[in-house]
Amino acid sequence: MANPFMAPTLPVELPDDPMTWAEAWLNEAIRRSVQRNPNTMTLATVAEDGQASARVVLCKAFVKDPGYVVFYTNYRSRKIVELRSNPKVAAMFHWDALGRQIRLEGTAVFSPSDESDTYFASRDWGSQIGAWGSDQSYTLTSRQALKDQVLERAHELGVDVSDDLQSLTSDDRPNLSRPAHWGGIRLWPHTIELWIEGTDRIHDRASWRRSMSAAGDHDFVTGAWTGTRLQP
Ligand SMILES: Cc1cc2nc3c(=O)[nH]c(=O)nc-3n(C[C@H](O)[C@H](O)[C@H](O)COP(=O)(O)O)c2cc1C
Repeated sequence: MANPFMAPTLPVELPDDPMTWAEAWLNEAIRRSVQRNPNTMTLATVAEDGQASARVVLCKAFVKDPGYVVFYTNYRSRKIVELRSNPKVAAMFHWDALGRQIRLEGTAVFSPSDESDTYFASRDWGSQIGAWGSDQSYTLTSRQALKDQVLERAHELGVDVSDDLQSLTSDDRPNLSRPAHWGGIRLWPHTIELWIEGTDRIHDRASWRRSMSAAGDHDFVTGAWTGTRLQP
């Protein structure tokens, strides 16, 4: 049976829950392996001086109800410096092979630390040591300086290695705990737009909004979505 979420347009009467559609599109992109990282999203932040910046991150959880996405990063990176002063961020997914785009606008909050711990523990060892080894977004004098820094951090963590982390066997890789400077970010959208490519550039496009009020450090109480079709 054809996937109803892959119809060439959105339903005549817009669905009440765009997050269900967005999740279905992400799942379809993953199922079809439409690109190397189908869970890629571009994240835009705005610095205190008003300068916008964008970069790609990986969406590691799509929680359609109550409705937020999660990515993981270094909490001292530029994007986090910017979202600490201005948590109003935007993100977008684009799958060219599916002719679909999703835009999210909302508020970024830090994930609960136990959730970040669980995710960090599920990562492969190389990614774990990478999180310890790199001061993301900081300047570097040379590539060699980064390699030396990673080895130095590995030594500090009790890893017995002379010059090549790749040479380690699994026995030489001690369990690593999550560094405090690394973890998850939840993006809670108050606005979401779904876009489907159409012929002659007569695309189909709709935007939904909802109310949100903070409920603690990590969550929001959200209202119902209200959708409106937009000209392409
Ligand atoms: C396909 C791809 C996936 C990426 N995933 C992440 C990610 O999940 N988290 C992350 O912090 N950086 C990720 N990056 C690197 C970021 O794009 C960016 O270079 C880095 O986070 C530093 O950004 P900042 O200096 O603006 O904070 C990814 C890059 C690419 C190309």
